[in-house]
Amino acid sequence: MQLLDGKALAKKMEENISLESKAFKQKTGRIPGLAVILVGHDPASQAYVGMKKKACDRAGFYSVSHEMPEDISQEAIINTIEMMNHNPNIDGILIQLPLPSHIDTTKILEVVSPSKDVDGFHPYNVGRLATGLHGFVPCTPLGVMELLSEYNIDPKGKNCCIVGASNIVGKPMAALLLNANATVEICHIFTDDLKKHTLAADIVLVGAGVVNLIKEDMIREGTIVVDIGINKTSDGRLVGDVDFDAVAPKTSYITPVPGGVGPMTITMLLSNTLKAAQNHAKELV
Ligand code: GUN
Repeated sequence: MQLLDGKALAKKMEENISLESKAFKQKTGRIPGLAVILVGHDPASQAYVGMKKKACDRAGFYSVSHEMPEDISQEAIINTIEMMNHNPNIDGILIQLPLPSHIDTTKILEVVSPSKDVDGFHPYNVGRLATGLHGFVPCTPLGVMELLSEYNIDPKGKNCCIVGASNIVGKPMAALLLNANATVEICHIFTDDLKKHTLAADIVLVGAGVVNLIKEDMIREGTIVVDIGINKTSDGRLVGDVDFDAVAPKTSYITPVPGGVGPMTITMLLSNTLKAAQNHAKELV
């Protein structure tokens, strides 16, 4: 069993991004900029936004966060996004999800300019990914692809079982793996006999948000397991969706939590923001 060390890869990639950010500054006289919109006081969302801001600082990016009260109107959020769409110092706009229930999330995501959609959540970019065209790809599944590639794991022809069908993780993960010529299935909360599917897979990728969902008897010897879950236990520990201690010895490769997919997500956000800045600079030539 070998660990897929996302922390190490994220660090290596961040160093390259910092260098590219410096080169971008020399060439254009400006630095890549990210705007984050955070609505409400969810502690997990606040922690994520804090981590994203710190990563921007490390990479030499400009970042600004717009923190809004829980009861803010949809119009006020839309106005802020439109301001960011027109702000030449901002290359990427990220709406931290989830949004409060009185806000129409789809509508909000559709207001973000597709060229600044560094989360890859706008239907324009979702459609481009689904058709195998270049565009912005959601950071977590993109980070998983980078991590697999770092360890020379080629999904081509492999049976990939994704557990969790979210728009943020499961669905874009499926599109990326399909574009990489894998055989892909997505299991979800209504899947009958999950174990039957995970046992048939060469690569199991889990992002369901359920502690210990994947147990030892659900994984074949030699399977590659990617744990995209992030859960906090009652005693404050961070754990994924896989019963790591029992499952890990059976796998050929497995991601730890923390230190696996999580750090890659932040790094891919930097990578997407740099790409957006480079695209915007090209448009100005
Ligand atoms: N909430 C949970 N994951 C994510 C993510 O990747 N991006 C955003 N914007 N919000 C999230």
